[in-house]
Amino acid sequence: MKQQAKRGEPTQNEASSSSSKIEQAFGTATPLFTVRPALPHDVLAISAVVMPYATRGILLTKELVGFYEAVQEFWVAEVHGSVVGCGALHVMWEDLAEVRTLAVDGPFRGTGVGHALLERLLERARELEIPRVFCLTFEVDFFERHGFTALPGPGVPEPIYGQLLRSSDDGVAEFLELSRVKANTLGNTRMIAHLDELDDLDDTPGAGA
Ligand SMILES: CC(C)(COP(=O)(O)OP(=O)(O)OC[C@H]1O[C@@H](n2cnc3c(N)ncnc32)[C@H](O)[C@@H]1OP(=O)(O)O)[C@@H](O)C(=O)NCCC(=O)NCCS
Repeated sequence: MKQQAKRGEPTQNEASSSSSKIEQAFGTATPLFTVRPALPHDVLAISAVVMPYATRGILLTKELVGFYEAVQEFWVAEVHGSVVGCGALHVMWEDLAEVRTLAVDGPFRGTGVGHALLERLLERARELEIPRVFCLTFEVDFFERHGFTALPGPGVPEPIYGQLLRSSDDGVAEFLELSRVKANTLGNTRMIAHLDELDDLDDTPGAGA
């Protein structure tokens, strides 16, 4: 599946500085990118994309072994064979999954890569018949534009909350807002997308892509 970035208009400065970095790296200002399932040999590249955000506390940090263990949850975007973005869909319960570790390498931000990855992860949730997708993020506007809204409450009924408490996964602990991960969640917004409602919106006559 080849896709060409085409959404939105960056400012003149953003466009030229982003284009020049991409030109330096790939010799073209508007590279095609491909979104595909991640493979184990992508893990070092995935880690390299994620780490700058993890060190700034924007994304959860992961050991390499953690990326290998989770690699089947990941999708990557690549340009000329190089990974420039990644994202994962982590199943939390029968009707709930989390978009996590969605990251785009600096020069490629604002060129549609994040949008394509997020759309693929939401499509994966549909394939798994999971109707609700959670994310914990500073990128509120980006996720709002993809149908996410703030999640005020716990997000699951009490008995399931109790079951999720048994997980050792840090992302699940963040979903539950446990004190052991409080530092990771400060300033983040808990958001949820109801995929049935998004599908209904898509079906509305005149709804855009
Ligand atoms: C959030 C994140 C993944 C978005 O990735 P991105 O590749 O910059 O996102 P996109 O380019 O698809 O979209 C961002 C905006 O860029 C603009 N844009 C998109 N395609 C464009 C194009 N071809 N040309 C110009 N501008 C474009 C649009 O304004 C778009 O806004 P939209 O949300 O209305 O589509 C990225 O900013 C990131 O890595 N953030 C840090 C990690 C993080 O916080 N992850 C989320 C929590 S898991």
